[in-house]
Amino acid sequence: MAFGDYQNEVYFGGLTGKVPDQPFTFAELERRAEELMPPNTWSYVAGGAGDELTQRTNATAFQQWGLVPRMLRGVAERDLSVNLFGMELDSPLLLAPVGVVGICEPEEHGDIKVARAAARTGVPMIASSLTCDPMEDVAAELGDTPGLFQLYFPNDREVAESLVRRAETAGFKAIVLTLDTWILGWRPRDLSIAHFPQLRGKCLANYTSDPVFRSRLDESPEENPMLAAGTWAQMFGFAMTWEDLAWLRSITDLPLLVKGISNAEDTRKAIDYGVNGIYCSNHGGRQANGGIPALYTLPEVVDAAGDVPVLFDSGVRSGTDVVKALALGATAVGIGRPYVYGLTVGGEDGVVHLIRSFQAEADLLMAVNGYGSIADLRSPDAIRKL
Ligand code: GLV
Repeated sequence: MAFGDYQNEVYFGGLTGKVPDQPFTFAELERRAEELMPPNTWSYVAGGAGDELTQRTNATAFQQWGLVPRMLRGVAERDLSVNLFGMELDSPLLLAPVGVVGICEPEEHGDIKVARAAARTGVPMIASSLTCDPMEDVAAELGDTPGLFQLYFPNDREVAESLVRRAETAGFKAIVLTLDTWILGWRPRDLSIAHFPQLRGKCLANYTSDPVFRSRLDESPEENPMLAAGTWAQMFGFAMTWEDLAWLRSITDLPLLVKGISNAEDTRKAIDYGVNGIYCSNHGGRQANGGIPALYTLPEVVDAAGDVPVLFDSGVRSGTDVVKALALGATAVGIGRPYVYGLTVGGEDGVVHLIRSFQAEADLLMAVNGYGSIADLRSPDAIRKL
């Protein structure tokens, strides 16, 4: 797939007077998204934990690495494809799970629009547990593109199992279990406006449509949405242990990934518990503000994971960042806030534009620097610490 051709499309469009109305830099995208998003939603999406040090260093950590340019290698075509749990993907990108993406566009069907963008680009969506539309409706929009389902493990195993069974039936190709958000991190921006969307009943469609969750309520979510939100909040804060992971492993044959792993020992232990993939991430700095950028932890996780695929997110702001994460051993790379902002600024087309821009930038960076494949990027001298 010649992703870099997107730039020809843009430049040739310019010859007939077509100037793009979508941003090409993260800074511009962020600026326009802030203008358009309701301030409460902006606070939730753009904000992170504590003074947001981890969130900032997640992004700046990429500046500490440089790709080594190599010439005369004839890489007229680049192969960015990857096989992930039997999914044949043209590019190593994923849309990271974002719980509130549903409310990041005016009609509050952001999850559906992102799924449509996934269908158009072949880039898998990791659909969150926290969506405005039930997972079955989201899955139905994915076309031939695979979807993965992100699970927050509730303190009620029957609800957990029901969500997993529904994900299986809806056709999701893997379960991505988030480990780092069993309790909410300290988020000063949201605290200062006392605003947490889910407590206001937003993005709970997977729960309010779930027969087991509904059986836990004395009144239906339609009659009493606040009871549903309160019940959800009580279920959410569950201090999972390795035994819970073992149980989850035992109830599904879908590939199981654990998200939020940042260390070699946890990586090895998770693999011993039978997971099929490790997702190295610190939740975009939204949870723990401990100060270690996710990229810093990636090489140690990759090393400990051996042949097990390692997905990565947190701080990825461009196609260049994607290439650096691949060179540091990631099997596939998740985009988070940028595609959410793409949705706010340009709707479904905005997400498609964002994805195509990341793919094109990654492809052209590899071309200019003489790397024809992801395997080439992984050669030990392809990337250097500055
Ligand atoms: C939930 O996943 C959040 O980061 O707010």
